[in-house]
Formats: sequence, C-alpha cells, structure tokens
Amino acid sequence: MRPATFTVIVDRIHVEAMDTVSIELRASDSAPLPAFDAGSHISLHLPNGIVRSYSLVNATGNRDRYILGVLRARDSQGGSAFVHEKLRSGDSILISEPRNNFPLDESGERFVLIAGGIGITAIYSMAQRLVALGKSVEMLYCCRSREHAAWLEPIQALGLSLKLHFDVQAGGPPDLRGFLDERDRATRFYCCGPTPMLSAFESACAENGYTHAHIERFSADPSGLKDAQGAGYEVQLGRSGKVVRVEAGARLLDVLRAEGIDVPSSCEQGICGSCETSVIEGDIDHRDSVLSESERAEGKTMMICVSGCKRGRLVLDC
Ligand code: FES
Repeated sequence: MRPATFTVIVDRIHVEAMDTVSIELRASDSAPLPAFDAGSHISLHLPNGIVRSYSLVNATGNRDRYILGVLRARDSQGGSAFVHEKLRSGDSILISEPRNNFPLDESGERFVLIAGGIGITAIYSMAQRLVALGKSVEMLYCCRSREHAAWLEPIQALGLSLKLHFDVQAGGPPDLRGFLDERDRATRFYCCGPTPMLSAFESACAENGYTHAHIERFSADPSGLKDAQGAGYEVQLGRSGKVVRVEAGARLLDVLRAEGIDVPSSCEQGICGSCETSVIEGDIDHRDSVLSESERAEGKTMMICVSGCKRGRLVLDC
C-alpha cells in the first residue's frame, strides 16, 4: 500500500487551451497508482513549498497515470505560475492520494453537468464515467472564449448532448436560470466553476426544487468566511488532554501547529479537505465549502483551516 503522500514522475506537459496545461503523472515504480473515482482531486507538493489541489481529468479506472488540468491564475501566489513556468517532464514531484469532495451519484439515470472555465476538469472526468455507464448526459461548457476551452474535441467526441457558451462571443455569462428551468426533479445536477456561476446554479436549483444539486468550488465562498470565530474559544487535544486557547481571529490550524501537531493542509481556504480533523465533542462553526449539510449536522469532522467553535470548547481527536 502506498503512503498518503508519494513521489511520481511528470511524464508529459501539454498545452490544452489558452492559459491551461495538462500535467500527466506516472508512478515512479511499476505499481498501479491508487484508485480514484470521478470528481477526485490530488494535491501537488511543489518544490517551492506550496501545496495546491487539482482535479483529476482522466477516466475512472485509469491507474497507470493521473492527468490534471492547471489554469494559470492571474493572481497566482506561486502555485499555478510554478506549474506553468518551472515544472518540466521528467521532474519528480510529491503528491497526495486522490480524495473526492465532489462524488458522483451514479444511481441516477439523467445528469446535467455544468462547467465554467477550469471547472471542466472534474466535469470532464464525470462525463467520461457517465457515458461509459450509458447514462443520459447533458453538458453546458462555459468559457471566456473558444480558445480558452480545454479538451473541447474529446468532449465533443463523447457523443453527449453538449451546449457551449463563450462569454466573449455571447457578450456575457450564460443564462443558467433558463438552462435549468423545468427539468425532471430526479435529474442529478453537477456544477464546477467560478463563484458567481455556482451562486446562480444554486439559486436556480433551489427555485426549481432540485434536491440532487451538487457543486465544487475552486475558490473560497466569501460569504462562508465572514464573521468567523468572533470571541475565541478553547480546544482540548483529545490524545494528550491538553487545553489550548484559540484567540479571536486566530486559525485553529495555526494554533495546533504551534502545539507541535503535524496537520496536513493545502488550500487553507476550506475548499480542498486536506486539513479535515475528527471532532470528539463540541459545537462546530463550519466555514468550509467541503462538507455536506448532513456531514455538518453529524458534527464528527471539521476543516480546521477555516472552521472554529460557536461556543464552549471543542474536543479534537489529535
Ligand atoms: S487546507 Fe484545504 S480545506 Fe483546509
């Protein structure tokens, strides 16, 4: 069995569209890579110390390689810029095992997939899986322009019902409300894209009473982070029994690290799930974009990079 992080080889880097490259990773030995399912992501531990999560593009079951899509962010803090400028074929790189915060409910028969920009990575993987399963799939793929649309030809070759929207040619964003109106409520809806698209998707699904609607964020939801952890709180470390204080405005992740606890993290914005920590007891103030409503209600786990405690004390399994 491979450890949670392991080294792979960058086998190929390919320009897929304007500002987007695919990175193909292969095992550094002959063993198959850990399995993944559609919607999964891995984290790249870049040599410059930055850790970034990227969705897997390739089809489920393909264990001889992982393929990622990386958009060069205009405001890159050194993650996507490093990948585009410094990463080369033949490099070794540390990665995390695949993880899925955006699982596909394969029990449905009809699926609507909506991708905005680089959100196509997870959506393309889902589309391949659903077509292989013989499901009815309709996809809306939105980009700034045709030149920015990665994997357009292979997506067209899948034979699903595909609608394209290019902001530049259309003069603005897509009419998601119109696209989503009056669908069968048993349809499964999936959307990955920028925050305004996700907000429009969630509103349209809520107004239409669609209960099978799922999103994945690749930037933090600002409304989820405001007013967090107003008064500070206490945390008991379940294994040692020690109690530490998280002052107002401080991050639980930083406090635990200051206590010498080795906590993994990646995005540090509540969107990747890397810092998920088990909670033994306490009233969690969830601020992440990873956990579902039912997972939040269960209260067994939290993302310590952004979440905290509403009142009293948290007891963590660490
Ligand atoms: S580090 Fe990504 S959710 Fe906390």
